[in-house]
Amino acid sequence: MKIVHVASELFPYVKTGGLADAVAALAGALADRGHEVAVYLPGYRVVLEHKDAAGAERTHRLKVEQGTDFLSGEVRVFSPRPGVTVHLVCREEFFDRRGAYGNGERDYEDNAERFIFFSKAVVESLRLAEAGADIVHCHDWQASLVPVLLRQAERRHGVTLALKTVFTIHNIAYQGVFPSRTFARTNLPEEVNQIDGIEYYSQINLMKGGILFADRVTTVSPRYAQEIQTPEFGCGLDGVVQTRADDLVGLINGVDSAIWNPATDELLPARYSPQNMAGKKVCRTELLKRCGFGAGFKGPVFGVVARLAAQKGIDLILANRDFFQSNDVRLVILGSGERRLEDEVRAFVREAPAKVHFSPRLDEAMSHLIEAGCDFFLMPSVFEPCGLNQMYSQVYGTVPVASRVGGLVDTVIDADEDPIRGTGLMCEPTTSGLLDALQRALALFADAPRHAQVQQRGMARDFSWKAAAEAYDRLYLESL
Ligand code: ADP
Ligand code: GLC
Repeated sequence: MKIVHVASELFPYVKTGGLADAVAALAGALADRGHEVAVYLPGYRVVLEHKDAAGAERTHRLKVEQGTDFLSGEVRVFSPRPGVTVHLVCREEFFDRRGAYGNGERDYEDNAERFIFFSKAVVESLRLAEAGADIVHCHDWQASLVPVLLRQAERRHGVTLALKTVFTIHNIAYQGVFPSRTFARTNLPEEVNQIDGIEYYSQINLMKGGILFADRVTTVSPRYAQEIQTPEFGCGLDGVVQTRADDLVGLINGVDSAIWNPATDELLPARYSPQNMAGKKVCRTELLKRCGFGAGFKGPVFGVVARLAAQKGIDLILANRDFFQSNDVRLVILGSGERRLEDEVRAFVREAPAKVHFSPRLDEAMSHLIEAGCDFFLMPSVFEPCGLNQMYSQVYGTVPVASRVGGLVDTVIDADEDPIRGTGLMCEPTTSGLLDALQRALALFADAPRHAQVQQRGMARDFSWKAAAEAYDRLYLESL
């Protein structure tokens, strides 16, 4: 099949979260299955500066109608691996900036303009290439207008650009909601600006377009597929999602073992495997040193790697300060994001500098060292569509402490509830729920043989993308 992915992030070129990992790994796994895969991505500055993109070839210039303007852009292509091409939609005005979505303080004010342009340029590029795709698979709100625009362009030009479209919700909390006047920039017919289109409480909601107009809708775990049909997790779109319940499926992401595998991970000071865990100790010692803790520390080390957003339950960790103060433990936090959370984590470090370490930045190597060097990985998310770190930590023999939401439920088994199969510790996403799991973590750590068993079971799990890619493949075929 000819499969086109449209996304706003792609590892290793631009990443703010799991979307980048998921799209890159899925594209690669589909190529491994013999498909021809093209990924459309905005030509951000960071991407153009990447060595792989240096030799990108311009395939065409294009002009898109946006409101009353005609905006020009160009598409550049390179191939990061056999079977996959990356198509960069370039326009300096929109994408030659430091961040993908904002300047670190807040989102760019013209994000609607930027991603409407991106979506239109993708459709125009598919038209100019005159090579119809079997599947056009769009990810999250930044690409969610593509299914709508594509059918519109097909009618207008009398061509077939895609046999079927798929829209994946990676996180329904981010919907691309903009003032109603923005609608004019889509040049879509007024009928799309209605309640059964992208109109949303006198504004427009781009994600709604993807949910309503794609042939199939997916999200990134079975549990989240259920949750987003409820008011508690649907973020106002639960009713809309319900209308597509028959076409909705939750497919869990996988782990890209070329990047996340402790036996081959070049970002670690030492490698290890279930048969020989000595390297994990080396990683732990290195992590303790890096954090300025004594390398000889013998107690449990807890780690966090996360976007600092309310979603990730950082507030629950902070509300459990006393636990970290009163027990002989260490806590390492790597993350950047919301200013409020960064400030509060900093304040926590000032209270307990000998026990808590905070790296307020994006740091790929450090994220691997934390996964490898910790004993427990904390992920008390308030909601979690899929979550990747709880899978990475199991693969790295680090026991996840995760809340009972979304993809965490589908990927972690509580070791106290299921002593035979358990791979982690689950909690309710509340302060007391987390405290209970933290205390159970202490008990597990104190029981070395049982701790080792739980680690080994996590490491033995198969989270490979093979299964996930097969599931997408089946979905594509079914829809065709
Ligand atoms: P989300 O996509 O909601 O942020 P996921 O668990 O799916 O959550 O994916 C997060 C990804 O981003 C993981 O690969 C994680 O290692 C990475 N990540 C998050 N914060 C950082 C950071 N500060 N430095 C490096 N990697 C990070
Ligand atoms: C989103 C979700 C996360 C998921 C990732 C990749 O960022 O927050 O749970 O793992 O997308 O699908």
